[in-house]
Amino acid sequence: MSNPPTPTAIHVRGLEKSFKELHVLRGVDLEVARGSIFALLGSNGAGKTTLVRILSTLLKADAGTAKVNGFDVAAQAAGVRGSISLTGQFAAVDGILSGRENLVLVARLWHLKNPGAVADDLLRRFSLTEAASRRAATYSGGMRRRLDIAMSLVADPPVVFLDEPTAGLDPQARIEVWQAVRTLAQGGTTVLLTTQYLEEAEQLADRIAILHQGRVIVDGTLEELRRLLPPAKVEYVEKQPSLEDVFLAVVGN
Ligand SMILES: Nc1ncnc2c1ncn2[C@@H]1O[C@H](COP(=O)(O)OP(=O)(O)OP(=O)(O)O)[C@@H](O)[C@H]1O
Ligand SMILES: [Mg+2]
Repeated sequence: MSNPPTPTAIHVRGLEKSFKELHVLRGVDLEVARGSIFALLGSNGAGKTTLVRILSTLLKADAGTAKVNGFDVAAQAAGVRGSISLTGQFAAVDGILSGRENLVLVARLWHLKNPGAVADDLLRRFSLTEAASRRAATYSGGMRRRLDIAMSLVADPPVVFLDEPTAGLDPQARIEVWQAVRTLAQGGTTVLLTTQYLEEAEQLADRIAILHQGRVIVDGTLEELRRLLPPAKVEYVEKQPSLEDVFLAVVGN
C-alpha cells in the first residue's frame, strides 16, 4: 500500500477511551512530525499503553480520530498495520536461536527477498554483529532489547512505537538502546516512545508530551517545557529546571 504524503506521521484529535467506569483517555490531542522522536510521559496508569494500542489498531477508541502515516486507525487499519511496528515490554526474541537466526526468521515471515542481508544490516545497525551467532539466551538485557527492536524493524516501517523500551535496563544498556533509537530517527523513521524515565525523554526526544488525567497537559520541546518554570536562582548561579521539576509541577505533586 502506498504511503499518502502527509506532513505529520501521527495525528490524534479528541481521542477518548474508557474501560467501563474508568475514563482513561478524555480527549487526547497530539501531533508527531515525520522523522522525529516523540516521548509520551505519564505516571503508572495514565493511559500511555492504551494510547499506543489504539494507534497500533489493537484497541478501538470510543471517540475522536487518529491517523498514522496518513491512515485512519479505525477506517484504514490495514494501512496503519502496514506502516508501523510495535515493541512492547514482552520481547519477541527466541532464546534458543542466535540473534541472526531470529532476524532471518522474521525476514522469512515477511517474505523478504534476501533475509540474510536484511539480518546482517540490522545486526550492524544495532551493534550486534559480534554476537550475531550466539544464542540470544546468552545476551545481556540491553542486547536482547536491541535485538527485539531490530526484529520489529525487519519490514522497515516508517513509524515505530516503543512502549517503555528501556524498562528494567541498567544505565549502560539504556544508553545502548538510546543510541539505536537515535540511529533509527536519523534514518527518517518516526519514533513514538513511552517512558517512565524522564532522563530518557530529555536525552532522546525532539518533543515531549505529558499525559495526565486523560489529556495531554503539556506538549513541546524540552526547552519549551523548561520555560514553564522559572529557573531557580541560587545567588549568582541560575539552575535550569530539570524535566523532572517540570513534570512534578504540571502534574501537581
Ligand atoms: N483492557 C483493560 N481493561 C480494563 N482496564 C484497563 C485495560 N487496559 C488498561 N486498563 C486500565 O487503564 C488505565 C491505563 O492503563 P495503561 O496501561 O494505558 O497505563 P500506562 O500509562 O501504560 O501505565 P504504565 O506506566 O503502568 O505502563 C489503568 O488504570 C489500567 O488499569
Ligand atoms: Mg504502559
